[in-house]
Amino acid sequence: MLKGKNKLRLDDSGQECMRAAGRFNAELLDFIRPYVIAGVSTGEIDRHVEQYTRDHGHVPAPLGYQGFPKSCCTSINEVICHGIPGDYQLRAGDIVNVDLSTIVDGWHGDSSETFLIGDVTEAAKAVTQCSFDCLYLAIEALTPGCPVSDIGKTIVEEARTCQFSVVREYTGHGLGRRFHQEPSIPHYPTKQSHRDRLEPGMCFTIEPMINQGTRLTQQDPTDGWTVRTKDGQLSAQFEHSILMTEEGPEILTPTQHGPQPGHRF
Ligand code: MF3
Ligand code: CO
Repeated sequence: MLKGKNKLRLDDSGQECMRAAGRFNAELLDFIRPYVIAGVSTGEIDRHVEQYTRDHGHVPAPLGYQGFPKSCCTSINEVICHGIPGDYQLRAGDIVNVDLSTIVDGWHGDSSETFLIGDVTEAAKAVTQCSFDCLYLAIEALTPGCPVSDIGKTIVEEARTCQFSVVREYTGHGLGRRFHQEPSIPHYPTKQSHRDRLEPGMCFTIEPMINQGTRLTQQDPTDGWTVRTKDGQLSAQFEHSILMTEEGPEILTPTQHGPQPGHRF
């Protein structure tokens, strides 16, 4: 009988499937990049996401997921996550996280970036930079078999240095045949994350949501999805899907044209 945690470790063929899913998800993010500009509505971005995904024979993971109505999430300014694409047209000064998740031959890819639209305030750049740095510092901190809490420790420390806060209600997650599975990947240290370990063969996301002001969140009572900062200040997020290998973490969702490690916004 396999121990519980062993079932989360993929064999070589499962790992190849996750590499393919991650690769497609990143390609989709690069495809959508030219559309994330002033004057384009988030609904148009969503239509391009769905079309490109289906044209390649794949499936948008968010569509219908627990009733989510669209194929991606677009989270603007004070929206932390799970923003629903619609008629709103992006405009100079906005920051927008585009979160893409796809199902490729039954396996999931999941990644996101925050985009700056035209000239943005220094504060908007700073919170975007902090979430980007939190993601890459957390990845750098990973070693085979390390506790999940190494991620949260690294992110909380970096956010503190920036004088920003870390959202607690939404976390990264195991990823595979299922969109969200064990282990939970909190972006702050918890008792459970001290116990959970990232063994070779495990896939998961890291997706820190960093707030300019309070870490507290508020879910839109009308649409049931959109999550905003309680104080209306800005929030930014970046996400990668990661495979832990015997050699260390492998980023499954690197883009060709997005910000690379060390980027300055
Ligand atoms: N990366 C996000 C997450 O893992 C994607 C959410 S899609 C939604 O939660 F459908 F759940 F909104
Ligand atoms: Co995710």
